[in-house]
Amino acid sequence: MKRIMVTGGAGFIGSAFIRYQLRRDPGIHIVNFDKLTYAGNLDNVKDADPARHTFIRGDIADLDAVLAAMEGCDAVVNFAAESHVDRSIMGATEFLRTNVDGVYCIVEAARRLKTERVLLVSTDEVYGSIDTGAFLESDRLNPRNPYSAAKAGGELVGRSFFETFGVPVIVTRGSNTYGPYQYPEKVLPLFLTNAIDGEGLPIYRGGEHNVRDWLFVDDHCAGIDTALRRGTPGEIYNIAGENERELITLTRKVLELTGRDESLIQPVPDRPGHDKRYAIDCGKLKALGWQPAMDWEEGMALTARWYRENEWWWRKIKTGEFRAYYERQYRQRG
Ligand code: NAD
Ligand code: TYD
Repeated sequence: MKRIMVTGGAGFIGSAFIRYQLRRDPGIHIVNFDKLTYAGNLDNVKDADPARHTFIRGDIADLDAVLAAMEGCDAVVNFAAESHVDRSIMGATEFLRTNVDGVYCIVEAARRLKTERVLLVSTDEVYGSIDTGAFLESDRLNPRNPYSAAKAGGELVGRSFFETFGVPVIVTRGSNTYGPYQYPEKVLPLFLTNAIDGEGLPIYRGGEHNVRDWLFVDDHCAGIDTALRRGTPGEIYNIAGENERELITLTRKVLELTGRDESLIQPVPDRPGHDKRYAIDCGKLKALGWQPAMDWEEGMALTARWYRENEWWWRKIKTGEFRAYYERQYRQRG
């Protein structure tokens, strides 16, 4: 592969994937196509070598723009999405537009251009919640919030283009991802940055014992890369962190890493439809030679250090659009 289009490459995981590709393959050129929504941030790719990284501002739901950018690319990897569950509960319009219509434009462009590989980055949330055990790729979809429903819709459109037109679509379903450059609406960077500032950690009441499987961002990128290069078109691959933790455990770790005490824990009303536990089996991707490498304690320490040392990155975010969102989101939670 010589030229890869990465959509959503100015976001958290997309920008890490670009760094990963540029590091690993000196011959690669990345076309980074991103709308720069509130979550898109060119600071995330400021160190990308301009000779091997072209940025195009555009919307994946605009077919003409996607066609123009994708021309000449061997592969497309779609990270572009509205990605936050709580925002999808406040209003789902953009979620359906980007996560469903946008994916349609990508697979339609790939059909017309005969793109060799199309990888759709999806989420373990499409399976819904599971009390014990772990979901396999063959298990039924049961999304329970507008974000995960829209992601499932996008996947289904993509897979229909594989079945109907032979577009070489591969889907990955990753678990909760963490690491540097994550927008501070997600729980870990929110809690880390609030704790650094001595502000409360709004833990959803009743949800403090919820379980998520924590996947370090570079492991997620390596998993996507493995599926892209060694996966079979038409197939789905789970990407797990194999680091299940209750939210209260993660919260206590944040307090320990920032030198704060439990007085910062601030119970707020629960998220409607809150999924209790996500868990996936990633044996299928392991069979292609990938496995998660980051130890959770080490990944948490590294991430906390990054937020402590990179206030320049998150302080300006937290004073902008984020502030209005935070007040609206947490005021209505009391
Ligand atoms: P993010 O919110 O940090 O970044 C999303 C990026 O997409 C932003 O740069 C934004 O500007 C861009 N974007 C949004 N709408 C667009 C549009 N219409 N056209 C072009 N660009 C657009 O998200 P993230 O956390 O990096 O997630 C990336 C992908 O991984 C998403 O598809 C998400 O569903 C999936 N995923 C995320 C996680 C996680 O824990 N963060 C876990 C599993 C899967
Ligand atoms: P989040 O980071 O939004 O990821 P997702 O909902 O996609 O798993 O939330 C992770 C967990 O943290 C989830 O159980 C909800 C909980 N949570 C809180 O308790 N308080 C918060 O302020 C946020 C954002 C999340």
